[in-house]
Amino acid sequence: MKEVLTKDGSITLKSEKYNECYHSSEGAYTESLYKHVLPGFKAAERFDYYGDEIRILDICFGLGYNTLTAVLHKPKNVKLKIFSPELDADLVKSLKNFKYPEEFKNLLSVINELSENFYYKSSDVEIEVFAGDAREYIKKLENIHIVYQDAFSPKVNGELWSMEYFRDISNILNKSGIITTYSVATPVRCAFYKLGMKIYTHPYNNIRKGTIASYKELDFPKVNFEEKLKRVECRTY
Ligand SMILES: C[S@@+](CC[C@H](N)C(=O)[O-])C[C@H]1O[C@@H](n2cnc3c(N)ncnc32)[C@H](O)[C@@H]1O
Repeated sequence: MKEVLTKDGSITLKSEKYNECYHSSEGAYTESLYKHVLPGFKAAERFDYYGDEIRILDICFGLGYNTLTAVLHKPKNVKLKIFSPELDADLVKSLKNFKYPEEFKNLLSVINELSENFYYKSSDVEIEVFAGDAREYIKKLENIHIVYQDAFSPKVNGELWSMEYFRDISNILNKSGIITTYSVATPVRCAFYKLGMKIYTHPYNNIRKGTIASYKELDFPKVNFEEKLKRVECRTY
């Protein structure tokens, strides 16, 4: 796969199979941090599980930026349990040689263990990478607090954006669960709306907006999706 330098200096790959990059040109690390990790932890501060264990589902592992950024920015007083499926086991095995950004320099042991054993555990972080199809894997999970929904686009990776898939996700979400995604597409937001979730965007101005879906009220800019539905049909992928 071809290496692609993104605007924040971090490197991503372009997948030949999907003909898409693993991250946006805005920055692989920046995208993980501002579209997934910071909004997820900020939202979690309001909920009663905070201070105990935060259970994250990272869809899908890819180059591992979301998982590694979550470890790097883990709030001090919480434990993290991260579950991450990935179809491409050879990609995960190759990651010990990947050129990660400087920010990850203290995560070498995490990267090496995940790349070799698909598993990492310390006193406050546990990560499981599952080599296989996310749709099967998620059915075995429960009580997930945060989902990083970061598949390739619906055009090429449709199985991870369908209503059926999001229903399976909602079955494993905690009642204070949230989903973060780079997608702002109406059919994606419609799926969240049909599941009874409220639609927000992240509050950061240095990167394009994404979507944060939540069962509970959040302290983020809210999208008036009902207003939008007066003009468009609520169709899902
Ligand atoms: C956009 S990339 C994920 C980027 C990743 N979050 C990161 O931070 O590097 C999408 C990933 O989903 C994987 N994938 C696509 N369909 C899948 C499926 N049905 N089950 C598991 N993994 C899948 C691809 O192999 C690819 O690595």
